[in-house]
Amino acid sequence: MRDAAPTTIYLKDYTPFGFLVDSVHLTFDLAAHATRVTSRIAFRPNPEASDKTFFLHGEELKLIRASIDGVEISPVVTDKGLTADAPDAPFIWEAEVEIDPGNNTALEGLYMSNGMYCTQCEAEGFRKITFYPDRPDVMSTFTVRINGDLPVLLSNGNPSGKGEGWAEWTDPWPKPAYLFALVAGELIAHPGQFTTMSGRDVELNLWVRPGDEGKCAFGMEALKKSMKWDEDVYGREYDLDVFNIVAVDDFNMGAMENKGLNIFNSSAVLASPETSTDLNFERIEAIIAHEYFHNWTGNRITCRDWFQLCLKEGLTVFRDAQFTSDMRSAPVKRIHDAIDLRARQFPEDNGPLSHPVRPESFQEINNFYTATVYEKGAEVIGMLKRLVGDDAYAKALDLYFDRHDGQACTIEDWIKVFEDTTGRDLTQFKRWYSQSGTPRVTVTEDWNDGTYTLTLAQRTDPTPGQSEKLPQVIPVAVGLLGPNGDEVRGTEVLELTEAEQSFQFAGLAAKPVASILRDFSAPVILEHDHTDAGRAFLLAHDTDPFNRWQAGRSLAEDTLLRMILEDATPGADYLDGILAVLRDGELDPAYRALMLGLPTQSELAAALHDRGATPDPMTIWTAVETLRQATAQHVQDLLPRLHSETLIDASFGPDADQAGKRALGGAALALTARLDGGARAAEEYSASGNMTQQLSALSCLLRAGKGETELAAFYDQWKHDRLVMDKWFGLQVAMASPDETADIARTLTEHPDFNWKNPNRFRSVMGALAMNHAGFHRADGAGYALLADWLIQLDPVNPQTTARMCSAFQTWKRYDANRQELIRAQMTRIAETPELSRDTTEMVSRILDA
Ligand code: ARG
Ligand code: ZN
Repeated sequence: MRDAAPTTIYLKDYTPFGFLVDSVHLTFDLAAHATRVTSRIAFRPNPEASDKTFFLHGEELKLIRASIDGVEISPVVTDKGLTADAPDAPFIWEAEVEIDPGNNTALEGLYMSNGMYCTQCEAEGFRKITFYPDRPDVMSTFTVRINGDLPVLLSNGNPSGKGEGWAEWTDPWPKPAYLFALVAGELIAHPGQFTTMSGRDVELNLWVRPGDEGKCAFGMEALKKSMKWDEDVYGREYDLDVFNIVAVDDFNMGAMENKGLNIFNSSAVLASPETSTDLNFERIEAIIAHEYFHNWTGNRITCRDWFQLCLKEGLTVFRDAQFTSDMRSAPVKRIHDAIDLRARQFPEDNGPLSHPVRPESFQEINNFYTATVYEKGAEVIGMLKRLVGDDAYAKALDLYFDRHDGQACTIEDWIKVFEDTTGRDLTQFKRWYSQSGTPRVTVTEDWNDGTYTLTLAQRTDPTPGQSEKLPQVIPVAVGLLGPNGDEVRGTEVLELTEAEQSFQFAGLAAKPVASILRDFSAPVILEHDHTDAGRAFLLAHDTDPFNRWQAGRSLAEDTLLRMILEDATPGADYLDGILAVLRDGELDPAYRALMLGLPTQSELAAALHDRGATPDPMTIWTAVETLRQATAQHVQDLLPRLHSETLIDASFGPDADQAGKRALGGAALALTARLDGGARAAEEYSASGNMTQQLSALSCLLRAGKGETELAAFYDQWKHDRLVMDKWFGLQVAMASPDETADIARTLTEHPDFNWKNPNRFRSVMGALAMNHAGFHRADGAGYALLADWLIQLDPVNPQTTARMCSAFQTWKRYDANRQELIRAQMTRIAETPELSRDTTEMVSRILDA
């Protein structure tokens, strides 16, 4: 319901709750439309709090009765919660409420998905289950009894009792309410087992709906690897007798780290070679690790308040990235992360939704589960590690776990363990948490008599609410190459702390070529005016794999910008450089495949905007198509070799080696399709035995304007599998030509399988529409109008997913006056919708106001 005046919550207003909770007992009597929740909670006054108001959050609850120490009371109830008179001594609160999970389409609190009960409480969903101080700094042990005639009844912690139609669970570890979970349904277990480093046996289960049993093995293995890795690398052992994971079809996000009972979007856990792509496998492995790692970074040590979200999310993303680097290829993972950061976080950081890694205010916290909090938050930890070194990082983490186990902490606590470990003053470093916007680092070079001087300057453009920016601590990893390509100075980390700073390298025999920001050592935009020849040199010789890839990427971007701005033809340095890399059979196929990638069209639009030009989506699209065609022709003679080099004899494995070969094979197929009109792709489509190859062949056909038969065959083959059908929907929109995108998307929304209340299905079409740059930005505004129509329709049903998708409009100020007007009109239409949710209201007003 729309608040008359939306309230803004501020970090600076934090005060502790007036009471502590010693124990929580919950009883659930499950019924689809009238679930009873009975709570028995032991409170006592908090000596550390001055405000002793006894306010319990509660939303959409029907209060049946409430009592304090056995005496019935009639509290004052509003749509936000209740207030009662509480004694200034320990007391027992009891309440009974009724809720309606069967009508909970927002997928927050207790809801139903395909006949199964499940919960999502982070951030503030527990208040839709019962009256409670629903804030992360209130921690307690929980005992949960579930009464219901479903075969599987799960909650957090260890099982403590079970009978016909009931089960009881006890979680011995104090936790905030956002980590509460309950699942009940007809589920099948894929079991597993893990013995911890101290020799304790843990029973593992991956619970799925009947029919999905064949998609569990990979996730179970990923879980075991994660458990082992956290012991080996961080010394962190699991702390319960059981660990359960449940796959749910209707879920707003990827997954949730509820204590001992992780709940996953089925797209983030179910996998099989026939139905999942290599990227799906990699993502699933990473998300399982992520949620598991939260057991220590998030659950054992949690957040004091939601402004500290990056404390658990930034750190846990950083940890899952380390895990993926160890399981697969470290350079490939680093390149994927840089691509992702630039595609998702940079537009956020440099547009109307810009906010610090630790925000200082919000209206709806669900709107701050962002790439900035998660991915930039992880980058900040990577920088910290690079600055203090690996040993100090390990010591600081040990101290963090020792000192703060069982607590709800802040970024100040986090920084303090690094200061105490290293003796370093991190006051300036902390600006990474408070200053929004992406720093830009510009490079000037000087060569004089054997001394090379590198001058780095930093600046950050103003962002909403922050007009003045101060210099940040930027670790810039640099190496120097000699004229014949040898490395004359190995990587060292320069600490840029001033607005401008010079670094000298003396005693060099010849003017070096600098490789700057190696390994993407900071989440900044590097402005280095290299010539094409300079970049081609780095592409051929850089010893840092990230920067070697980056040289190719920058060369591609420069070429594309010249094609767009000056009508130039594709640059020879780019084409020859790429050919040389592709030809190098010593290089990892995955890495060669990445070398063929281009900046996204949206990134090119941002780059044009940075240069003072107004991006035209069609011109950008044409330039990319032209460069692709030119690349295909240029590497034509090599394509047969690439096809044979990437053939795999062995049976399918989701490992990095096979995945890399398929990635390169798929990239080669896409180039081939530009030369043979899709003939080879049609053959490979029929021959493909796994989803990666099936989908990549189908993409080539659709891109070539073909594939109608294959698309229909694909539908018949997979119509029973909802995760594959999401791909079928998404691919058609992603591969559509610019003028057809909106119409294809609209037609798909009329398809009987377009179950728009399912977030995965909604996103498969609407997310793909927003991502198809030239299609979404069609000059007549058809893409904008279609998305707005659907956001308005979804908002009353599922505000969280609606609000997240509003970010499709965040870059609107880059474009021409006509497009801006069209977007403004659609956003205004959304904003003026009666009863618009608080979530969507906040997003649209932030995008419009800036
Ligand atoms: N903590 C979860 C994760 O990182 C994300 C849950 C976010 N949910 C939400 N409704 N905002 O894995
Ligand atoms: Zn997380």
